[in-house]
Amino acid sequence: MKKSNPQKLRPIRWKKGILYLLEQRKLPFKEIWVKCETVEKVARAIEEMTVRGAPAIGITAAYGVAVGALRSKVKTQLAFKLEMGKYIERLRKTRPTAVNLFWALNRMEKKLEQLKDVFLPDQKYWLDREALAIHQEDEELCDRLGEFGAKLLSRCKNVLTHCNTGALATGGDGTALAAITHAARKNKKLHVWVDETRPYLQGARLTAYEVDHAGINFHLITDNMSASLMKQNKVDAIIVGADRIVANGDTANKIGTYALAVLAKAHGIPFYVSAPTTTLDLTMKTGREITIEQRNPREVTHPNGIAIAKDNYPVYNPAFDVTPGTLIRAIVLETGICRPPYQKSLRGALLKSGRGLK
Ligand code: MRU
Repeated sequence: MKKSNPQKLRPIRWKKGILYLLEQRKLPFKEIWVKCETVEKVARAIEEMTVRGAPAIGITAAYGVAVGALRSKVKTQLAFKLEMGKYIERLRKTRPTAVNLFWALNRMEKKLEQLKDVFLPDQKYWLDREALAIHQEDEELCDRLGEFGAKLLSRCKNVLTHCNTGALATGGDGTALAAITHAARKNKKLHVWVDETRPYLQGARLTAYEVDHAGINFHLITDNMSASLMKQNKVDAIIVGADRIVANGDTANKIGTYALAVLAKAHGIPFYVSAPTTTLDLTMKTGREITIEQRNPREVTHPNGIAIAKDNYPVYNPAFDVTPGTLIRAIVLETGICRPPYQKSLRGALLKSGRGLK
């Protein structure tokens, strides 16, 4: 393990009712903070990927509600409720796949309902506190994910990961990447293969930056190199995050995840998923029900703004795919490690988390 940078990466800051987001589109070259003082700015920051990663967009959306509440000028409880309802709907429309966004907004909506008869300044205060609580709780969830996930990686020399699942994607140290950083603290020789993650390059731009920051040995690879590495016995385990995990363990995650799971199966390599229970959606029975976000064709034709194909080519750009639960060896949650059959183990984990089944 190389020398690590002790300063913690935290991409979401909440100061005196203003949300500051680290502009992830400029990383790793520039550290720029975007000030969001309106709900619309928060919504655009999510849509346009200033902030991304399932837990991080949930936290940001919750702060978006708090931003709207603190700036509201209406005088009655009813008008406040209607205004907040509009903000929540706007934020719900930002990105469809990661369930954490909807989970966080539902929680803010529930809080609003509980407070509906309370003096308006107090409602605003408590909505601000609720968003902060969602953020702080996620930091704790990440710590537990790191501890449990590291157990699965304890005998590994080479771990492969896809997309970005570290501090930049969450409120704490990450999901899958937290498992890697925890494991690397005990095993200084741990080495990570970082998939570049076409087309949006979260691996190249963000994960490489994070593992470098943590002082972990790594190589950045293009996505099409993983099969050959597996064939050469250079991958001991694969661990990824998740945007939505449904009742049978089917998991939506960054496009390219499914291919890795199939390759892992073909090479007898364990394939793990790590996510907090806020990423579980047991209202869906199988992955077929998950809405997959389609993104701007320019992300494919112009990676990082540089043209690699003609503007007018037809492009297909799904941001996520679904990995069948049958290909996943274990799902790490903050409550512990779940194994198949997932219908039973995920339900048990959600009950244990105290979040209830819906
Ligand atoms: O499109 P993104 O960058 O928001 O996608 C992020 C991912 O797919 C991550 O792997 C997932 O959110 C897990 S993050 C802790």
